[in-house]
Amino acid sequence: MKTHTLLMPLDMHLHLRDGVMLENIAPLTAYSFSGALIMPNLVPPVDTKEAVLAYRERVMAAVPNDYFEPYMTLFYKNYDKKFLTDVAEEITAIKLYPAGITTNSEGGVSSFDIEEMRPTLEAMSELGIPLCVHGETDGFVMDREAEFMSIYELLAQNFPDLKIVMEHITTKAAVEMLDKYPNLYATITVHHLLLTLDDVIGGMMMPHHFCKPIAKRPEDLDALLDLALNAHPKVMFGSDSAPHPKYKKEACGCAAGVFTAPIALQLLCEIFEQFDKLDNLQTFVSDNAQSIYGICPEFKEVTLEKRPFVVPETYSNVVPLYAGETINWAIESVD
Ligand code: DOR
Ligand code: ZN
Repeated sequence: MKTHTLLMPLDMHLHLRDGVMLENIAPLTAYSFSGALIMPNLVPPVDTKEAVLAYRERVMAAVPNDYFEPYMTLFYKNYDKKFLTDVAEEITAIKLYPAGITTNSEGGVSSFDIEEMRPTLEAMSELGIPLCVHGETDGFVMDREAEFMSIYELLAQNFPDLKIVMEHITTKAAVEMLDKYPNLYATITVHHLLLTLDDVIGGMMMPHHFCKPIAKRPEDLDALLDLALNAHPKVMFGSDSAPHPKYKKEACGCAAGVFTAPIALQLLCEIFEQFDKLDNLQTFVSDNAQSIYGICPEFKEVTLEKRPFVVPETYSNVVPLYAGETINWAIESVD
């Protein structure tokens, strides 16, 4: 039986929600990942030091053991330096959402006026706090990410000492932007390494494939695969696993988000093996994040086995990607 072992897998973009959803969902990631960057788009958003600390406590209470590190984020606002200095120790990054662009982002940024943002972004540069960005405009849905490239350029040029992470990139345009500025980095999800727009609306409309940013064209998928499979040093795995209850997905007005947390590593093995690049998966799923964020995760050794695995129909009433379908890798053991 073919096996593959990963050390300290990291998910550098994860939605865990709160309350009962958090309690049900957090253990799934804590089982197979050493740590994850926890998104702050709760209602209300995580935008104070107290909220960060309290949310961290709730995440830790929801996971069954201590072998999981929640790397906390703060919801971006134009904070002053005193506040940032005080909160810096408690967070790994600050997540910026354009206002209203996705789930629970209403309190995000409504103007990308660099001078208005300068004090915050300069303080973040000095304090070494990375900026993670949901890079979409409010333009035509297929063009939103490409249109955001000029804003990434503005940020990268004006704040050369700020680490900027282009989250969940989906386009060739973003892939091309990555090497233009030394301070730009990116995360890629597993679903964006598998799906194009055809898989969302090309046949029957598939609500469990619908997310923001939406999956794009085959040439975009190829560009993303090229980055991930070759474990480009500025790219990390970030699942953007985004649980919504089944009734909110299978609805008129479907919520955006693909739920992949419990099958992410299995799918990554399948993709990397298919392209004969399994040797690069460790770098994509852990080593790059460790160097980019300067983090030392808890030891965890995850062994995956190449055997058929039927994806459950639901996990606590959340429907995963490929529910009921057979995938080709399964988790064999976690130490
Ligand atoms: O599809 C998405 N779902 N994209 C996001 O940016 C947010 C996420 C969520 O929180 O549900
Ligand atoms: Zn997200």
